[in-house]
Amino acid sequence: MSRFSRKVVLVTGGASGIGAAIAARLSSEGAAVAIGDLDLEAAEALAAGLPSRCVGIRLDVADPNSVAAGLAALERRLGPLDVLVNNAASCTDATLAELSEEQWARDLEVTLGGPFRCAKAALATMAPRRSGVICNIGSVNAFQFLGNEAYSAAKGGLVSLTQAIAVRYGPTGIRCNLIAPGTVATPAWDARLARQPDLFEQLSGIYPLGRVGTPEDIAAAAAFLCSDEARWITGAVLAVDGGLLAGRPGLADDIAGTDRSP
Ligand SMILES: NC(=O)c1ccc[n+]([C@@H]2O[C@H](COP(=O)([O-])OP(=O)(O)OC[C@H]3O[C@@H](n4cnc5c(N)ncnc54)[C@H](O)[C@@H]3O)[C@@H](O)[C@H]2O)c1
Repeated sequence: MSRFSRKVVLVTGGASGIGAAIAARLSSEGAAVAIGDLDLEAAEALAAGLPSRCVGIRLDVADPNSVAAGLAALERRLGPLDVLVNNAASCTDATLAELSEEQWARDLEVTLGGPFRCAKAALATMAPRRSGVICNIGSVNAFQFLGNEAYSAAKGGLVSLTQAIAVRYGPTGIRCNLIAPGTVATPAWDARLARQPDLFEQLSGIYPLGRVGTPEDIAAAAAFLCSDEARWITGAVLAVDGGLLAGRPGLADDIAGTDRSP
Protein backbone atom coordinates (compact mmCIF):
# COMPACT_ATOMS: atom_id res chain seq x y z
CA MET A 1 0.00 0.00 0.00
CA SER A 2 1.35 3.45 -0.76
CA ARG A 3 -1.48 5.84 0.02
CA PHE A 4 1.08 8.46 1.07
CA SER A 5 3.74 8.29 -1.64
CA ARG A 6 4.99 11.81 -2.47
CA LYS A 7 3.26 13.16 0.67
CA VAL A 8 5.19 15.16 3.26
CA VAL A 9 3.98 14.67 6.83
CA LEU A 10 4.76 16.31 10.17
CA VAL A 11 3.93 14.40 13.35
CA THR A 12 4.35 16.55 16.46
CA GLY A 13 5.41 14.66 19.57
CA GLY A 14 6.33 11.91 17.13
CA ALA A 15 9.27 10.42 19.02
CA SER A 16 7.18 8.28 21.39
CA GLY A 17 3.93 6.37 21.80
CA ILE A 18 1.05 7.21 19.49
CA GLY A 19 3.04 9.78 17.49
CA ALA A 20 5.81 7.26 16.82
CA ALA A 21 3.25 4.67 15.65
CA ILE A 22 1.62 7.21 13.31
CA ALA A 23 5.02 8.19 11.90
CA ALA A 24 5.88 4.52 11.35
CA ARG A 25 2.51 3.74 9.75
CA LEU A 26 2.58 6.70 7.35
CA SER A 27 6.23 5.97 6.48
CA SER A 28 5.30 2.34 5.73
CA GLU A 29 2.72 3.72 3.30
CA GLY A 30 5.29 5.85 1.49
CA ALA A 31 5.19 9.26 3.23
CA ALA A 32 8.26 11.38 3.88
CA VAL A 33 7.82 12.02 7.61
CA ALA A 34 9.26 14.73 9.83
CA ILE A 35 9.16 13.64 13.45
CA GLY A 36 8.93 16.88 15.43
CA ASP A 37 9.68 16.51 19.11
CA LEU A 38 11.29 18.14 22.13
CA ASP A 39 13.53 15.06 22.20
CA LEU A 40 15.59 15.47 19.03
CA GLU A 41 17.78 12.45 19.73
CA ALA A 42 14.78 10.11 20.00
CA ALA A 43 13.16 11.70 16.93
CA GLU A 44 16.31 11.20 14.84
CA ALA A 45 16.77 7.62 16.06
CA LEU A 46 13.18 6.75 15.12
CA ALA A 47 13.46 8.49 11.73
CA ALA A 48 16.65 6.56 10.91
CA GLY A 49 14.84 3.22 11.34
CA LEU A 50 11.79 4.01 9.19
CA PRO A 51 11.44 2.69 5.64
CA SER A 52 10.87 5.97 3.77
CA ARG A 53 12.70 9.30 3.78
CA CYS A 54 12.21 10.58 7.35
CA VAL A 55 13.90 13.21 9.50
CA GLY A 56 13.89 14.20 13.15
CA ILE A 57 13.26 17.86 13.90
CA ARG A 58 13.55 19.63 17.24
CA LEU A 59 10.18 21.15 17.93
CA ASP A 60 8.52 22.71 20.96
CA VAL A 61 4.89 23.25 20.02
CA ALA A 62 4.51 25.66 22.96
CA ASP A 63 7.05 28.05 21.42
CA PRO A 64 6.04 30.04 18.30
CA ASN A 65 9.69 30.56 17.29
CA SER A 66 10.39 26.83 17.52
CA VAL A 67 7.30 26.08 15.40
CA ALA A 68 8.35 28.61 12.72
CA ALA A 69 11.92 27.26 12.67
CA GLY A 70 10.72 23.63 12.65
CA LEU A 71 8.31 24.18 9.76
CA ALA A 72 11.03 26.00 7.78
CA ALA A 73 13.51 23.18 8.41
CA LEU A 74 10.91 20.59 7.37
CA GLU A 75 10.17 22.39 4.08
CA ARG A 76 13.89 22.78 3.35
CA ARG A 77 14.59 19.08 3.97
CA LEU A 78 11.45 17.34 2.68
CA GLY A 79 9.44 19.89 0.65
CA PRO A 80 6.03 21.53 1.24
CA LEU A 81 3.89 20.04 4.00
CA ASP A 82 0.86 17.95 2.95
CA VAL A 83 -0.26 16.38 6.24
CA LEU A 84 -0.01 17.73 9.80
CA VAL A 85 -0.66 15.42 12.75
CA ASN A 86 -1.05 17.46 15.93
CA ASN A 87 -0.14 14.85 18.52
CA ALA A 88 2.05 16.51 21.19
CA ALA A 89 0.26 17.24 24.48
CA SER A 90 0.95 18.02 28.11
CA CYS A 91 -0.99 16.33 30.90
CA THR A 92 -0.50 17.52 34.47
CA ASP A 93 -1.46 14.99 37.09
CA ALA A 94 -3.26 17.44 39.41
CA THR A 95 -6.85 17.94 40.47
CA LEU A 96 -8.65 21.27 40.16
CA ALA A 97 -7.82 22.21 43.75
CA GLU A 98 -4.15 21.34 43.27
CA LEU A 99 -3.61 22.90 39.84
CA SER A 100 -1.29 25.92 39.86
CA GLU A 101 -1.67 28.77 37.36
CA GLU A 102 1.58 27.57 35.75
CA GLN A 103 0.37 23.97 35.36
CA TRP A 104 -2.95 25.12 33.92
CA ALA A 105 -1.17 27.45 31.48
CA ARG A 106 1.35 24.78 30.43
CA ASP A 107 -1.29 22.11 29.66
CA LEU A 108 -3.31 24.65 27.66
CA GLU A 109 -0.23 26.03 25.90
CA VAL A 110 1.01 22.65 24.69
CA THR A 111 -2.23 20.71 24.22
CA LEU A 112 -4.40 23.41 22.62
CA GLY A 113 -1.92 26.21 21.81
CA GLY A 114 0.40 23.74 20.07
CA PRO A 115 -2.19 22.55 17.53
CA PHE A 116 -3.27 26.19 17.00
CA ARG A 117 0.20 27.46 16.15
CA CYS A 118 1.25 24.36 14.15
CA ALA A 119 -2.02 24.49 12.18
CA LYS A 120 -1.66 28.23 11.58
CA ALA A 121 1.88 27.76 10.24
CA ALA A 122 0.88 24.71 8.16
CA LEU A 123 -2.25 26.37 6.72
CA ALA A 124 -0.17 29.32 5.53
CA THR A 125 1.59 26.93 3.15
CA MET A 126 -1.35 24.57 2.47
CA ALA A 127 -3.93 27.22 1.57
CA PRO A 128 -2.05 28.68 -1.45
CA ARG A 129 -1.72 25.09 -2.79
CA ARG A 130 -5.42 24.47 -2.02
CA SER A 131 -4.64 21.10 -0.49
CA GLY A 132 -3.70 19.62 2.85
CA VAL A 133 -4.90 17.50 5.75
CA ILE A 134 -4.75 18.07 9.49
CA CYS A 135 -5.39 15.33 12.02
CA ASN A 136 -5.66 16.39 15.65
CA ILE A 137 -5.11 13.81 18.36
CA GLY A 138 -7.72 14.63 21.00
CA SER A 139 -8.96 12.43 23.83
CA VAL A 140 -12.11 10.83 25.21
CA ASN A 141 -11.46 13.27 28.09
CA ALA A 142 -13.05 15.99 25.92
CA PHE A 143 -16.42 14.24 26.20
CA GLN A 144 -16.54 12.70 29.65
CA PHE A 145 -14.87 13.70 32.93
CA LEU A 146 -12.01 11.27 33.49
CA GLY A 147 -9.60 13.43 35.53
CA ASN A 148 -6.71 15.71 34.50
CA GLU A 149 -8.76 18.92 34.45
CA ALA A 150 -6.40 21.24 32.56
CA TYR A 151 -5.51 18.66 29.91
CA SER A 152 -9.17 17.71 29.47
CA ALA A 153 -10.25 21.34 29.06
CA ALA A 154 -7.57 21.76 26.40
CA LYS A 155 -8.78 18.62 24.58
CA GLY A 156 -12.33 20.02 24.69
CA GLY A 157 -11.05 23.18 23.04
CA LEU A 158 -9.30 21.09 20.41
CA VAL A 159 -12.67 19.76 19.21
CA SER A 160 -13.79 23.34 18.59
CA LEU A 161 -10.51 24.23 16.85
CA THR A 162 -10.94 21.16 14.62
CA GLN A 163 -14.40 22.33 13.56
CA ALA A 164 -13.16 25.90 12.99
CA ILE A 165 -10.36 24.75 10.69
CA ALA A 166 -12.66 22.33 8.87
CA VAL A 167 -15.28 24.99 8.16
CA ARG A 168 -12.93 27.90 7.36
CA TYR A 169 -10.62 25.86 5.14
CA GLY A 170 -13.05 23.32 3.65
CA PRO A 171 -13.73 25.62 0.67
CA THR A 172 -9.96 25.70 0.13
CA GLY A 173 -9.81 21.91 -0.17
CA ILE A 174 -8.21 21.36 3.23
CA ARG A 175 -9.61 18.81 5.69
CA CYS A 176 -9.27 18.70 9.47
CA ASN A 177 -10.48 15.90 11.76
CA LEU A 178 -9.93 14.72 15.32
CA ILE A 179 -9.26 11.29 16.79
CA ALA A 180 -10.38 10.77 20.39
CA PRO A 181 -8.39 7.86 21.81
CA GLY A 182 -9.30 6.01 24.99
CA THR A 183 -6.54 4.55 27.18
CA VAL A 184 -3.59 3.61 24.99
CA ALA A 185 -0.54 1.71 26.26
CA THR A 186 2.30 4.22 25.73
CA PRO A 187 5.24 5.52 27.77
CA ALA A 188 2.92 8.26 29.06
CA TRP A 189 1.64 5.63 31.52
CA ASP A 190 5.05 4.37 32.68
CA ALA A 191 5.10 6.17 36.05
CA ARG A 192 1.57 5.04 36.85
CA LEU A 193 2.32 1.44 35.78
CA ALA A 194 5.36 1.38 38.05
CA ARG A 195 3.01 2.09 40.98
CA GLN A 196 0.22 -0.18 39.72
CA PRO A 197 1.50 -2.90 37.36
CA ASP A 198 -1.96 -4.42 36.71
CA LEU A 199 -3.49 -1.05 35.75
CA PHE A 200 -4.28 -1.97 32.15
CA GLU A 201 -5.90 -5.27 33.18
CA GLN A 202 -8.07 -3.35 35.66
CA LEU A 203 -9.03 -0.73 33.10
CA SER A 204 -9.87 -3.40 30.51
CA GLY A 205 -13.12 -4.08 32.38
CA ILE A 206 -14.53 -0.62 31.58
CA TYR A 207 -13.92 -1.08 27.85
CA PRO A 208 -16.66 -2.77 25.80
CA LEU A 209 -13.98 -4.38 23.65
CA GLY A 210 -12.27 -5.70 26.76
CA ARG A 211 -8.80 -4.19 26.44
CA VAL A 212 -6.93 -0.90 26.36
CA GLY A 213 -5.64 0.36 23.02
CA THR A 214 -2.31 0.09 21.28
CA PRO A 215 -0.55 2.97 19.50
CA GLU A 216 -1.11 1.02 16.27
CA ASP A 217 -4.90 1.12 16.83
CA ILE A 218 -4.69 4.91 16.71
CA ALA A 219 -2.19 4.95 13.82
CA ALA A 220 -4.58 2.90 11.65
CA ALA A 221 -7.35 5.47 12.17
CA ALA A 222 -4.97 8.39 11.58
CA ALA A 223 -3.76 6.83 8.33
CA PHE A 224 -7.36 6.53 7.13
CA LEU A 225 -8.34 10.10 8.07
CA CYS A 226 -5.18 11.53 6.49
CA SER A 227 -5.62 9.53 3.27
CA ASP A 228 -7.73 10.36 0.22
CA GLU A 229 -10.11 7.57 1.25
CA ALA A 230 -11.45 10.08 3.82
CA ARG A 231 -11.80 12.78 1.15
CA TRP A 232 -15.39 13.71 2.15
CA ILE A 233 -14.75 13.65 5.88
CA THR A 234 -13.94 16.89 7.65
CA GLY A 235 -14.73 18.41 11.04
CA ALA A 236 -15.36 14.90 12.36
CA VAL A 237 -14.53 13.35 15.70
CA LEU A 238 -13.58 9.69 15.46
CA ALA A 239 -13.56 7.92 18.82
CA VAL A 240 -10.93 5.18 18.75
CA ASP A 241 -11.65 4.02 22.24
CA GLY A 242 -12.71 0.36 22.35
CA GLY A 243 -16.29 1.59 22.83
CA LEU A 244 -15.67 3.60 26.03
CA LEU A 245 -17.80 6.60 25.00
CA ALA A 246 -20.65 4.30 23.97
CA GLY A 247 -21.09 3.02 27.52
CA ARG A 248 -19.75 0.68 30.17
CA PRO A 249 -20.23 -3.10 30.16
CA GLY A 250 -22.82 -3.99 32.77
CA LEU A 251 -23.89 -0.41 33.51
CA ALA A 252 -27.20 -0.60 31.61
CA ASP A 253 -28.13 -3.87 33.33
CA ASP A 254 -27.20 -2.37 36.72
CA ILE A 255 -29.44 0.64 36.09
CA ALA A 256 -32.35 -1.25 34.49
CA GLY A 257 -32.12 -4.20 36.88
CA THR A 258 -31.83 -6.60 33.97
CA ASP A 259 -29.29 -9.21 33.04
CA ARG A 260 -29.27 -9.53 29.29
CA SER A 261 -25.62 -10.25 28.67
CA PRO A 262 -25.27 -12.18 25.41
N1 LIG B 1 -1.77 7.31 25.93
C1 LIG B 1 -3.07 7.50 26.15
O1 LIG B 1 -3.72 6.77 26.93
C2 LIG B 1 -3.79 8.62 25.43
C3 LIG B 1 -5.20 8.68 25.55
C4 LIG B 1 -5.88 9.70 24.91
C5 LIG B 1 -5.19 10.63 24.16
N2 LIG B 1 -3.83 10.54 24.07
C6 LIG B 1 -3.14 11.57 23.27
O2 LIG B 1 -2.24 10.98 22.37
C7 LIG B 1 -1.14 11.87 22.14
C8 LIG B 1 0.16 11.16 22.37
O3 LIG B 1 0.20 10.61 23.66
P1 LIG B 1 1.22 9.44 24.06
O4 LIG B 1 0.55 8.67 25.11
O5 LIG B 1 1.72 8.77 22.83
O6 LIG B 1 2.39 10.29 24.77
P2 LIG B 1 3.95 9.98 24.98
O7 LIG B 1 4.28 10.59 26.30
O8 LIG B 1 4.29 8.56 24.72
O9 LIG B 1 4.64 10.86 23.82
C9 LIG B 1 4.49 12.25 23.77
C10 LIG B 1 5.62 12.84 22.94
O10 LIG B 1 5.37 14.24 22.83
C11 LIG B 1 6.58 14.93 23.03
N3 LIG B 1 6.29 16.28 23.50
C12 LIG B 1 5.83 16.65 24.73
N4 LIG B 1 5.70 18.00 24.80
C13 LIG B 1 6.07 18.47 23.57
C14 LIG B 1 6.17 19.78 23.03
N5 LIG B 1 5.90 20.87 23.76
N6 LIG B 1 6.57 19.91 21.73
C15 LIG B 1 6.88 18.80 21.00
N7 LIG B 1 6.84 17.55 21.48
C16 LIG B 1 6.43 17.40 22.76
C17 LIG B 1 7.34 14.08 24.05
O11 LIG B 1 8.74 14.37 24.02
C18 LIG B 1 7.00 12.67 23.57
O12 LIG B 1 7.92 12.21 22.61
C19 LIG B 1 -1.39 13.07 23.08
O13 LIG B 1 -2.06 14.08 22.36
C20 LIG B 1 -2.30 12.50 24.13
O14 LIG B 1 -3.08 13.47 24.74
C21 LIG B 1 -3.11 9.57 24.69
